[in-house]
Amino acid sequence: MTSETVARGLEGVNVAATKLCRIDGQKGELIYSGYDIYDLADHSTFEEVAFLLWNLRLPNAAELTALQDNLRAERPLPDLASRILREIVGQIRPMRALEMSVIISGALDPQSSDLTNAQLKVTAARLTARMPTVLATYHRLRQGLEPVAPRDDLGHSANFLWMLNGREPNELEARVFDVAMILHAEHEMNASTFSALVTASTLSDMYSAIASAIGTLKGPLHGGANEAVYKLVDAIGTEQNIPSHVEALLARGERVMGIGHRVYKTTDPRAIILEKLGHELAAVSADRKYFDLSLKLRDYLARKLEGKPLYPNVDFFSASVYKMLGIPSDLYTPIFAMSRITGWTAHLLEQYADNRLVRPNALYEGAGNREYVEIASR
Ligand code: COA
Repeated sequence: MTSETVARGLEGVNVAATKLCRIDGQKGELIYSGYDIYDLADHSTFEEVAFLLWNLRLPNAAELTALQDNLRAERPLPDLASRILREIVGQIRPMRALEMSVIISGALDPQSSDLTNAQLKVTAARLTARMPTVLATYHRLRQGLEPVAPRDDLGHSANFLWMLNGREPNELEARVFDVAMILHAEHEMNASTFSALVTASTLSDMYSAIASAIGTLKGPLHGGANEAVYKLVDAIGTEQNIPSHVEALLARGERVMGIGHRVYKTTDPRAIILEKLGHELAAVSADRKYFDLSLKLRDYLARKLEGKPLYPNVDFFSASVYKMLGIPSDLYTPIFAMSRITGWTAHLLEQYADNRLVRPNALYEGAGNREYVEIASR
């Protein structure tokens, strides 16, 4: 690349070195710090993965217990955040409520500008612990219900479902949701992670970096795609409508949400795992219509887009999995953030430990030098 070229979308550009995650987009491999995503999905828990990302190794039993205790202790929201959530309830979307609550947590933390590794890890755990409380609280309040207090005997994911629904999830629901949390935790240098690193590179604090990341994740080309997939499948409605709906959408130059990826040129391994979980849920679900329609849409797209490197990504099946768990669609993207907070903060630990200001260039294509003309003469 020369100073005369533009790396559009920064495709193929390494903007940082990382020990956190490796993706092979041709083979469909996703590895967190040496561990294959299939192994983590089969054997691990979200808390273990959080520890892995923050420490680059799996915890022993005592370390895992300490992290679980810490997360439990950090679950309650600051009083100001709770009061503001009550004030704005129903007026903003949950993703904005999440973004706002991160900013409030930062504003109230006297240690926010302490960028030492130890303090940053405290912040990382705090934000990870609080996000489920924010979303569950906001969702309860907007239904006119009182928030449900967290349960100390439940793990991170099961406790979220408990606080959200006021009903303890069964074993399958808790496990499926925990695996979805593992799958979304980290993904190398995606747009939201990069925006977090750009913010941190000015030595702004971790809270502001995470608020930047949440704003970036929100867009439909990134984390917003899971909610967009839900809307697409919902709008299609029946199997018979799939061809005409997709044809019309492509004719308008729009994209099929949940399909395609900058890095994967085969099926995203997370989509493979989520489809499997979807089948497990569908086998016992009272309403599997949406999942079945997603499978038909996937099969139709495979034929329609044959020869193009466009395959289901993580968002394609997360929508149906969340739907079968009874979660409303405007929480899908905030739930993505609730998991990715671990990957974002892990990348921030790397960035603060070896920081250099991110300040690229732009290729100027504007007018040549001009004489300034006073407004009266224009
Ligand atoms: N539906 C239809 N066509 C798509 C497509 C989709 N979802 N994704 C990419 N394409 C097409 C583009 O139109 C383009 O075609 P062209 O070369 O004929 O113009 C080609 O594939 C390459 O697209 P490009 O935008 O250069 O790829 P990208 O790497 O910048 O885009 C995404 C990656 C993820 C933004 C893109 O695949 C997309 O918009 N997917 C839908 C949103 C989504 O699911 N996002 C979540 C990602 S995890």
